[in-house]
Amino acid sequence: MEKRKIVVTSALPYANGALHLGHLVEYLQTDFWVRYQKMMGNDCVYVCADDTHGTPIMIRARKEGITPEALINRSYRARVKEFQAFEVGFDLYGSTNCDENRALSEGIYLRLKEKGLISRRPVEQLYCETCGMFLPGRFVKGTCPKCGAADQYGDGCEVCNATYTAGELKEPYCAVCGGKPVMRQSEQLFFELEPFRDFLRAWIPAHTDAATAGKLLEWFNEPLRGWNISRDKPYFGFPIPGEPDKYFYVWLDAPVGYMATLERWAKARGETLEAWWQDPKTEIYHFIGKDIVRFHCLFWPALLENAGYRTPSQVFVHGFLQVNGEKMSKSKGTFISAATYLNFLPAQALRFYYACKLNGSVDDMDLNLQDFTQRVNSDLVGKITNLASRGAQMINKNCGGKLGQMDADSRALLGTFRKQLPEVLAAYERRDFCRVMVFVRAWADQANQLFDAKMPWKLVKEDVEATRAVLTGTLNLFRLMAIVLKPILPVYAGRVEALFGEAPYQFADAERDVEACTISAYDHLASRIDPKAIEAMIAASRENLKASAKTLSEKDVKKGIRQLATKPAEAVFPEPLAPEVSIDDFAKLDLRVATVVAAEPVDGSDKLLRLQLDIGEPRPRNVFAGIRKSYAPEALLGRQVVMVANLAPRKMRFGVSEGMVVAGTDADGSYCVMQPLAPMTPGARLH
Ligand code: 2FM
Ligand code: ZN
Repeated sequence: MEKRKIVVTSALPYANGALHLGHLVEYLQTDFWVRYQKMMGNDCVYVCADDTHGTPIMIRARKEGITPEALINRSYRARVKEFQAFEVGFDLYGSTNCDENRALSEGIYLRLKEKGLISRRPVEQLYCETCGMFLPGRFVKGTCPKCGAADQYGDGCEVCNATYTAGELKEPYCAVCGGKPVMRQSEQLFFELEPFRDFLRAWIPAHTDAATAGKLLEWFNEPLRGWNISRDKPYFGFPIPGEPDKYFYVWLDAPVGYMATLERWAKARGETLEAWWQDPKTEIYHFIGKDIVRFHCLFWPALLENAGYRTPSQVFVHGFLQVNGEKMSKSKGTFISAATYLNFLPAQALRFYYACKLNGSVDDMDLNLQDFTQRVNSDLVGKITNLASRGAQMINKNCGGKLGQMDADSRALLGTFRKQLPEVLAAYERRDFCRVMVFVRAWADQANQLFDAKMPWKLVKEDVEATRAVLTGTLNLFRLMAIVLKPILPVYAGRVEALFGEAPYQFADAERDVEACTISAYDHLASRIDPKAIEAMIAASRENLKASAKTLSEKDVKKGIRQLATKPAEAVFPEPLAPEVSIDDFAKLDLRVATVVAAEPVDGSDKLLRLQLDIGEPRPRNVFAGIRKSYAPEALLGRQVVMVANLAPRKMRFGVSEGMVVAGTDADGSYCVMQPLAPMTPGARLH
């Protein structure tokens, strides 16, 4: 079968908010699906990014006395670590504040403008003279015009649920400084939607589920309102070309961030955005929550269609997360951040439970904490993992770690499991993960019944070879389950691969038997959940009430990761940055331009080259550089490189190294030595 080419995205999380278990409903289901596609052998790319622009980020940075750029860099690092800890395998996690996004957003806008699709209209909005800015709905508070409740936000009342505009609030005040705002008019830019009524009316039902389409089409009973895509300064975002002091509204450049991140990913592989997004064979899927369908199923397709880009193949919409049957609640401690969760519980337990509950529909999903504990303890640990731990430990202890041939009953059972594989894969394809788990749990029950019936713990006393056959069967049955579970439990499956000494599993490996080979020592796969850990997590979340916007600290992550004892997810993440250094720290490094005057391989090392580097001193420096796999010595001769000249000399097996050559490691692990663009005097200092 021909490989499919698939681009997948999850909604871009705001850079100023902390990830919580509700967000993870989306990232985990997307990750399950992407990993399934990859295991089918398809070319599937999963991109996501921080959504970095907008007023809230600007205000938060102001409050902290830092630049918005500093804020989004800090939050980026924390978030990448959280995603890693939850085993989310993005091919690239980017940021909307990047050059590619700026260029694409401008390009899309200019094409719309050329086609006469951008209009201008005056808009009246509340303006705070103290803060010097127009106030978005969330930044105005006042008395609800419907029920009279005090201190309600400008976009709706939390007491009577009425929705209104900020201008309708009684006694409005600025939520930042408390000052009284005034009405002010300014001209804004609009992308008109009404001309695309017919296009959208046809597009929507063909590209999303019936429930979502039905809701969206209700809007079509009236003329479609134009979309205001501009914001006045001060604003943190991309300036609109040709419109002084105006910026793109964050919701314009946010979805463009999907394309920008894909472009960055493609460029890093020497490919182009066009070769992916514009290839008619590429399937493009957005996973989103039901709260943002308007942006993804109205504005986004209209924008893309008119700017000459392909529209997504399908928008997969999911519902919200409830905890214990109710809306997540800060005061009840059920508004649980990703960071808090990781402090108490293993990530893979949540992955397992969410998979048991997700069926690809737009219905809300309930995380029932008692059910969660029970399913993890009884199904994942008690049934599935137990097969591996008992089977592998007995083989290692009693049968010299060697698998033989399976007994006939196990082979027959394995055959019946394999017959069901097409159905399991079809369930994965339609994002019905809960159905996948129904199969796996049923398989685990049957495999355990067989194990108990064969009583290998007794058999071993009479017949080691018969025991070997039974355990070989048990482990083959378990291995099949681990392969099927791999999209959901990738770290777990990685340990199973190591147990059997196998290469990373693809689904095709499920068709192979593992017999007559040696297995490794059994490595712990999954832990039981202690109900006390859940109680402690709820108590900690309650405590976090005020600090709910807190992102994961270095210490939290380390603690979380230690508890999981995971290996890093397979994803290629941009490498997390090292801890910040001061300018004084940086100045301690003496970086010099050096000319390579001699270069030779080092006998006895396949990594090192011995270089003689001239930095204008009476004698060249002797430096060993571990770049042999990427450079033949003669390729470096006469070249200029950058050298750390004040590194303490290091005694190595082959001699003393008197400095270090600055080189980068590329995505494929190859090295690239840094060199000045134009020749410089040897010894010139870099700063
Ligand atoms: O609702 C949100 O959290 C947005 N940050 C989602 C953006 S999705 C995409 F359009 F970028
Ligand atoms: Zn103000």
